[in-house]
Amino acid sequence: MNILKVQGGKELEGRVKISGAKNSAVALLPATLLCDESVNLLNVPDISDTVALFDILSYLGAKITNLGEESYKIDVSNIENKPITDEMSNKLRASYYFMGALLGKYKKAVVSYPGGCSIGSRPIDLHLKGFESLGAKIEYEENNIIISAEELKGSNIYLDFASVGATINIMLAAVKADGTTIIDNAAREPEIVNIAMFLNSMGAKITGAGTSTIRIKGVKNMHSSVHEVIPDRIEAGTYTIIGALVGKNLKIYNIIPEHIEALTSKLKEMGANIEIGPDYLVITKKDEYKPVNVKTLVYPGFPTDLQQPFSVLLSRCRGKSTVEETIFENRFMHLPELRKMGMVVSLDETVATFIGPNELNAAIVNATDLRAGASLVTAALAAKGVTTITNIEHILRGYEGLVEKLQDVGAKIKIEEI
Ligand code: UD1
Repeated sequence: MNILKVQGGKELEGRVKISGAKNSAVALLPATLLCDESVNLLNVPDISDTVALFDILSYLGAKITNLGEESYKIDVSNIENKPITDEMSNKLRASYYFMGALLGKYKKAVVSYPGGCSIGSRPIDLHLKGFESLGAKIEYEENNIIISAEELKGSNIYLDFASVGATINIMLAAVKADGTTIIDNAAREPEIVNIAMFLNSMGAKITGAGTSTIRIKGVKNMHSSVHEVIPDRIEAGTYTIIGALVGKNLKIYNIIPEHIEALTSKLKEMGANIEIGPDYLVITKKDEYKPVNVKTLVYPGFPTDLQQPFSVLLSRCRGKSTVEETIFENRFMHLPELRKMGMVVSLDETVATFIGPNELNAAIVNATDLRAGASLVTAALAAKGVTTITNIEHILRGYEGLVEKLQDVGAKIKIEEI
């Protein structure tokens, strides 16, 4: 088992390059299946989630060539539509994108239930209803969901919730359907725009991505293309929060600042030392901040994925701050761990209340999920003493080169095998 050891209290100075977005890459990789030829994807992060997706693509018959510098050629001209079994799909949440991609290409997908972080019940009913609306039949056999259609026909789909996964999955299923599909109350996250641009670069006809109404006019063929994964706004946000705690002119670069505006405007409200450039920001810590209230919302609101690392910063706020989680039911599993490190926080259903300032001290803590793990790394960097974090495979699923990036700016952090 691997653990992380973090000696806290070091000032971090230098530059952190942000990688390609996990949540884009994990949809772009399954989306390559819709191509008739081969595609080149650039800026693909090397994290265990993308490794798992490459494995599934290879299993289906894709020929993958690593072109270096995070670029890959993926030749999908000889794919066989085989079932994606439990052990493949439960490694990550995004395996559900094979449902939309295989359905879109072959009118049939057999995919087992997806895995991913346990942060609530995480149903996929909106994905499946979307497929049904396009004419697909859904059947269940042991652990598999079998989605099949004689014909996929464009249709009008209203999402009860602006789900990221459902919006992307329906786009994937609809690009080759007959006629036009309209997704209303679509999610507007930047990752959705990135996927739509990729599909369009292969010949799809999608308009409105990034707004609440997406129109997809079905096409017959999808050709080769070259496409780049956008920078990871959640990784950028996490390092920015770390900078607000322990940074000294810490430069976070290769970012799209607009994508993390909900965070940076909160930081400004708290009184942070932050300078924002065209594709970078520079942040220096302060010992004390003004208290704030944060509510997670769909994009462009405050991202639920940053709620957990952001909580740590509230230990530096004098007085009462609150965090309300509105997207997932069970995304406060980091709080008992942060309490072990000295944070004063209480939880009332969906609202966590923090009373600060609190001194953070090292402890042995457990990463229950990806972003909970990110919050523990953040806390450990600011704490006195050496913190041990267990269950770190959750963290490595989503942060490329976390240890190296932090070491490069002066952190004392290492992975140990026990
Ligand atoms: C994606 C991201 C995740 C992020 C989340 C919200 C990926 C791989 N993961 O997750 O990092 O935290 O967006 O920004 O991109 N829901 C339903 N039925 C459905 C689908 C969703 O009830 O069919 C509910 C979920 O339980 C949740 C809410 O809608 O409460 C948001 O889920 P969704 O936007 O779909 O998130 P994911 O795609 O799972």
